Amino acid sequence: MEIEQLEKQALTEIENCPDSGQLEELRIKYLGKKGLVAERMKTLPAKAAAERKTFGESLNQLKNNIARALELKAEAALQSPSSIHLDLTLPGTPWTTGHLHPVTQTITEIENIFQRLGYSRSRYGEVETDYYNFEALNIPRNHPARDEQETYYVGQDTVLTTHTSNGQVREMEKGLLPIRMLNISKCYRRQSDITHTPMFHQFEGLLVDQTASITDLKGTIDYFVKNYFGPKMQSRIRPYNFRFTEPSFEVDVTCAVCKGQSCTTCKDGWVELGGAGMVHPNVLRNGKVDHDKYSGFAFGWGVERCFMMKYNVNDIRLLYSTDLRILQQF
Ligand code: FA5
Repeated sequence: MEIEQLEKQALTEIENCPDSGQLEELRIKYLGKKGLVAERMKTLPAKAAAERKTFGESLNQLKNNIARALELKAEAALQSPSSIHLDLTLPGTPWTTGHLHPVTQTITEIENIFQRLGYSRSRYGEVETDYYNFEALNIPRNHPARDEQETYYVGQDTVLTTHTSNGQVREMEKGLLPIRMLNISKCYRRQSDITHTPMFHQFEGLLVDQTASITDLKGTIDYFVKNYFGPKMQSRIRPYNFRFTEPSFEVDVTCAVCKGQSCTTCKDGWVELGGAGMVHPNVLRNGKVDHDKYSGFAFGWGVERCFMMKYNVNDIRLLYSTDLRILQQF
């Protein structure tokens, strides 16, 4: 067979070869020691000198072309889907899993603690009227108590909710007594430093009943503190002034860093948690609750601050930095 014909035949057979086993057979058939190319090599010495050179070169060319075709075919076979070998013993590819943000986790934790005391979760809007945010809470226009909240005004009579106390009168207006409300919502203030963010969460408890007393309030605070921070943690209330509660208190808990021994991050072993007090009669009146028959207590604390105190986080802004090195720790 002519060299050209032989090459054509070899290349067609290689092209149509269905699997790598048969490809090896073709290699032996053409390029093996006793293969078709070697057979022609053996005829070289008998050729005339002039013909020997060109014939030898053609055979070498043939050998290279067949070898190259075999190589290409083997590479293509490796990449074809049918040839991908499925090894079930290989370890699987791990999936990266996310989890809830620490603030969301804290909200659920707080909600569960108060649920056990009979509180129902509610949520009020992020935009509020001046009335529910301030006036109904005994904070009239131009009263200096408004300054503390560094309010974002959306319109003349609308604000971004500055505290969850806005839900107090709204809840009373539903007319369903007694009340055990837990309002956890977003709040906004023009503040930003290591303990303040412009957006943060507060949780507000409001209890209105015929026999609500300061003792009940103190017991409720203690229940939360022991369940959230740990059984050895204690709480105390200090006199304070809020326009919507009378009497009013600031609530302190044992410092988690020094365990109450007094350190640089606390005042005498105590750290401040938030405000509380007995609902002011004017507020009960605004909520259409008969204040001769009913009394109530309320407390409002920061969700992020509770989290920071529990895990000793020293900059609140880390929580909203989206830095995975922080978030993955919780
Ligand atoms: C209030 O907002 C009152 N409404 C709390 C209250 C409710 C008192 C019911 C009496 C009865 P105050 O402004 O202190 O109080 O805020 C309460 C808590 O919210 C603070 O102790 C802090 O934990 C959190 N907080 C306030 N501002 C910020 C802020 N910018 N960033 C993060 N947390 C904040």
